[in-house]
Amino acid sequence: MQAVKITENVYWVGAIDWNLRNFHGYLTQRGSTYNAYLIIDEKVTLIDNVKEYCTDEMLARISSIIDPSKIDVVIQNHIEMDHSGSLPKIMSLAPNAELYCSPNAVKGLKMHYNTEGWKFNPVKSSQTLSLGKNSIAFTLTPMVHWPDNMVTYCPEQKILFSNDAFGQHIASNERIDTDYPESIFTEEAKKYYANIVLPYGKMVMGALKAVAGLKIDLICPSHGLILKQNIAKMVELYTKWASNEVKEKALIIYDSMWGSTEKMAKAIAATFEEKNITFELLSLQHNHISDVMTHLIDAKYICLGSPTLNNNILPTVAQFLAYLKGLAPQNRIGFAFGSFGWGGQSIKMINDDLESVGFKMLKSAKIQYVPCQEGIKNLKQTLAEQL
Ligand code: FEO
Repeated sequence: MQAVKITENVYWVGAIDWNLRNFHGYLTQRGSTYNAYLIIDEKVTLIDNVKEYCTDEMLARISSIIDPSKIDVVIQNHIEMDHSGSLPKIMSLAPNAELYCSPNAVKGLKMHYNTEGWKFNPVKSSQTLSLGKNSIAFTLTPMVHWPDNMVTYCPEQKILFSNDAFGQHIASNERIDTDYPESIFTEEAKKYYANIVLPYGKMVMGALKAVAGLKIDLICPSHGLILKQNIAKMVELYTKWASNEVKEKALIIYDSMWGSTEKMAKAIAATFEEKNITFELLSLQHNHISDVMTHLIDAKYICLGSPTLNNNILPTVAQFLAYLKGLAPQNRIGFAFGSFGWGGQSIKMINDDLESVGFKMLKSAKIQYVPCQEGIKNLKQTLAEQL
């Protein structure tokens, strides 16, 4: 395992997690990487770490350039364990290394690891650190997406080390986006935003503002490919996503027991089609919740359907609702629907849950047992009148 040269004296020394398929509930179908970067200067500097089980891979890559005990400075942009798991090993191999991180990271790291003897240097925004020929400027970006997050900028190299921001879960031998299919890169960046960053739109806008004036040739995130050709495009997309900008597009998300709620879902789709509103029909039996979130990122209308099962919602729909509530997309119009036998509680439950997220709700629709022609006609008419 070798270090990969990124620019003069800056190396990628991370790890590739080819088999990762689940990142706290997010289907990572292309695996991921945990990116760490090494700057060779008067002060040998490691920026970020990797998951604990990838420690040997990172150490091998560092060792291809320099003995890890020679590391003078460790910059920890974020404490989540996919980026800090190897930190205890590094601090034991380089006991004199100075550790730079946010004040919240100091507190967090002390609650994750035995940090006895670690030389903490809590930093503030705008603080700088000279490494020799290069320097580092720190910008704290709390809640993008944990309280401890920060990004670091190297003006001499024009590199922004953005940690989780601008990441994508892609395992690949390519390190720079210029060497990777752009459509897959963009899709994975979108999925990453929708499933990780979405709740923190306001903080993302603040972070984008804080780094807006910087001259940036490369953005080095902590997951996936380094951005070279996609910088302007991704800043524009992050600005759009963070402001919850939506299109005239509908998602009809549902599960069904005996096909009745599915019939309703198809009638809802036809209604949007007749209104010339683009739509996607997403069965929760066939679409992973994290993929549904990717579709949802720019959709204005969110229709969610479940039949009533034992006075409740189907488990697949309940799972999606819990996930959606946590990610809390804003500026959406919601529509609850479903079939029922006798109770019909699921429809109100969905309606109330979506309303609690802040969705503006349309009048919901429910149909007993199997939808008849008249029932479908009424459903379509009721929905059409509200669009
Ligand atoms: Fe990639 Fe917040 O960890």
